[in-house]
Amino acid sequence: MDRIIEFSKHVQFTFGDSVLEIFYLIASVLFIMGLKMLSHPDSAKKGNLWAAAGMVIAIVATLLLHRHNGQKMGNFGLIFFAISIGTIVGWIIARRVKMTKMPEMVSIFNGMGGAAAALISLMEFPHINKELIAQHGLLNWQALVIFLGLIIGSVSFAGSIIAFGKLDGRIKDIRSLTLRIVNIFMVIIIVALTIYIMTRGNVDPAELSPLVYALLAISLIYGVLFVMPIGGADMPVVISLLNSFTGIAAAMGGFLYDNLVMLTGGILVGSAGTILTFLMCKAMNRSLLNVIVGSFGGGTVAVETEQGSIREISLIDTAILLTYSRKVMVVPGYGLAVAQAQHLAYELDSILQDKGVDVKYAIHPVAGRMPGHMNVLLAEADVPYDKLLESDKANDEMESVDVVIVIGANDVVNPAAEDDPSSPIYGMPIVKTLKAKNVIVMKRGMGKGYAAIENSLFNHEKTRMLFGNAKETLQKLITEVKNI
Ligand code: TAP
Repeated sequence: MDRIIEFSKHVQFTFGDSVLEIFYLIASVLFIMGLKMLSHPDSAKKGNLWAAAGMVIAIVATLLLHRHNGQKMGNFGLIFFAISIGTIVGWIIARRVKMTKMPEMVSIFNGMGGAAAALISLMEFPHINKELIAQHGLLNWQALVIFLGLIIGSVSFAGSIIAFGKLDGRIKDIRSLTLRIVNIFMVIIIVALTIYIMTRGNVDPAELSPLVYALLAISLIYGVLFVMPIGGADMPVVISLLNSFTGIAAAMGGFLYDNLVMLTGGILVGSAGTILTFLMCKAMNRSLLNVIVGSFGGGTVAVETEQGSIREISLIDTAILLTYSRKVMVVPGYGLAVAQAQHLAYELDSILQDKGVDVKYAIHPVAGRMPGHMNVLLAEADVPYDKLLESDKANDEMESVDVVIVIGANDVVNPAAEDDPSSPIYGMPIVKTLKAKNVIVMKRGMGKGYAAIENSLFNHEKTRMLFGNAKETLQKLITEVKNI
């Protein structure tokens, strides 16, 4: 009888495991399909929901079916309490956040992922498999995975918090040679301490906890110092790099727990983040090594150009110029997002289109404050996707453009990126507005862009400034264009 009970328990156990693996497979497929859909604005919202559904399936299946040494999971009260807090806080923040504050929110959420991965490592270190320790001491794969999760997760957490502060304008860049040297030393210390702990032989891991906490502290400090010098127009690269770090740290958790869905999720985030990092590097014309050692830009201090004369244009003249153009190129930037003027931009486009004007949009890869920011904004306003041109493509067409209308963009149209080797944005590809016949820049005043440098485009003889909040200016412009 005992054997039958034992056997039925075993069957239940392995059956439960297989069902769990199937749910993990379904969740992984949902993640992958969700990610695929996220690559196009039309399907991005659905993709997000699919990936979220995958996550719900993974969590519920784990809670109900996961067994550890044949034991079901316990502590459901605590688990639901923690999930409820996370869900409520996340929901409220996500509902309230303004579109322009999305990058800050993404940074914080990304940091939380890194912190979770680091905490897993911290909690699991004392429980490294005793047999592994008996055979190889601490020089074993479990310890390695734990240390990688701890280091990468904490660098990602601390770095993301600093990135949040920078995006929010609370933390200023600190660039110095000393900081670069300190950063290199920090990396050496982290590697040396990890090797030291791992070569302690057959010891009880709990005895080494103080050293592990020291490793955590050093990694956190390195996360802060690593992001500190990076700033200006180069933030997009570091944000996507931190994103990939969090994915890799989560994947380490997947290895540790032999958990398929955690591993897939981590690898997807890690690889997507890595691809995005390289795309951003390409968009900014930087090498990844430059990012990591923090030696951005041509010089450490931006060269302020002399303010030349600025020529303004009236609403009525703008309306006439636009209406009698054959081809108009809109260059949207962060100011369009701040003003939430995307719907009005498209309304103006539709009216001009009805009057026979061909209107297109030049989308710079780092316009706004997050990857794909302008695509998301314009998709929200139902601008057809085929009207959006990547900046290279837009530049090819620029000579045939009668009027470029720059709406709240600054750094991404700054000629200093091409002409001024001492500029922090030197080398970054830009939208070459000056190749068009006329340039109209819509912004509130002479405020600088994210890189905090002067923009000689505003003084150029081809350029006319149309000052005011983008939303109000566009509203008035639409009225004028309609009256022509
Ligand atoms: P920015 O260079 O930031 O310039 C935006 C301009 O919009 C400002 O000069 C501002 O001038 C104007 N503006 C602000 N509010 C406005 C409003 N309500 N109406 C009209 N104009 C308004 O924008 P960009 O050209 O899009 O460049 C993006 C920058 O952010 C780059 O340096 C990029 O590297 C950086 N960045 C990008 C990302 C990603 S991934 N996209 C992430 C982090 C940082 P006024 O104050 O005079 O109006």
